[in-house]
Amino acid sequence: MKISRRDLLKISTTAGLTAFTASAISPLLGVVNVGYAHSHNKREVIPFNFAVIGDAHLYEMPNHRFDKTLERAINDVIKMNPKPDFVIFIGDLANFGKREELLKGKKILDKLKKAKIDYKIIPGEHDWYLDLGEFWKSLFGPPYWSFNHKGVHFIGMNSILVDDFWTVRDMSPWERMLAIAELECDICGLWGVGEKQLQWLENDVKNLSPDTPIVIFTHSPLWNYYPRWNFQTKDADEVRKILSKFEKVIAIHGHVHQVVYNRTDNIVHIGNLATSWPWPYPPVELPYPKIVMHRADPGDIYDGVGFATTYIDDSFLGNFKYVEWADLIPKELKNGIPL
Ligand SMILES: [Fe+2]
Ligand SMILES: [Fe+2]
Repeated sequence: MKISRRDLLKISTTAGLTAFTASAISPLLGVVNVGYAHSHNKREVIPFNFAVIGDAHLYEMPNHRFDKTLERAINDVIKMNPKPDFVIFIGDLANFGKREELLKGKKILDKLKKAKIDYKIIPGEHDWYLDLGEFWKSLFGPPYWSFNHKGVHFIGMNSILVDDFWTVRDMSPWERMLAIAELECDICGLWGVGEKQLQWLENDVKNLSPDTPIVIFTHSPLWNYYPRWNFQTKDADEVRKILSKFEKVIAIHGHVHQVVYNRTDNIVHIGNLATSWPWPYPPVELPYPKIVMHRADPGDIYDGVGFATTYIDDSFLGNFKYVEWADLIPKELKNGIPL
């Protein structure tokens, strides 16, 4: 007897297999990860795909190697067949929030538009703290937004807002930027979306029915991965609470520059690769991820980096596939992570 994914979902949920372990990623058990009982009631989704690119960390100097890796990702996306419906850039376009870096980044991203592929963008901490987002907003508009596409409600939020740590220390904008550009900034504090965006989110989803498919993008994870490196969002529990009424949410984040995935209640979380460099995994024993990417070859600028393509099917199941240019992805994840 052939068991379909849908049948497996039913079996899984009937058997009460709701607990998630990251080790459950496999062509079979991966389905359990996104098990939900009412997939057949999903509002109709027209299948489509989109790409996720991020963490480009561009420097102002010309012909930097990070220009090349971002351009390679953009060119790969332009060559995709079928074309993605759109691209999400998931933060850290610049490295020090400089105008020259952001302008260079916009110029590269705008190649997508020339190829008739639209993109949406959210900020990362490296884009923001030189001028508190002023120039970024002048180029790209509001840092949080939502839109509907083919039956799915997409949300982007700015998750890198911190309380003012600079005024009391009399820090210049450049000192503030350098402080937060460190992976481990002792004085910066944990970052989050803040009260204003929480209210906006609440309002944004209040009229949506629970069977609405939701995809949310944030620069940092909406779960506590490793707070010391801001692999977290401090008010993520409030974001998750607002989204808890939905049957299923897909949450995609940047910032971690590595293969990572998890599940909290109704949310599947996945981290995107950077086009710049891979971060190491946190130096502590964590229950996730069980399957990690291979260590990068420091001599190869295309190793350890990449982007992702995402396919969404008509019942809001799908696949998040890392695209890389070296032998980075372990075989269990070569075919993507089930959504
Ligand atoms: Fe980054
Ligand atoms: Fe970041």
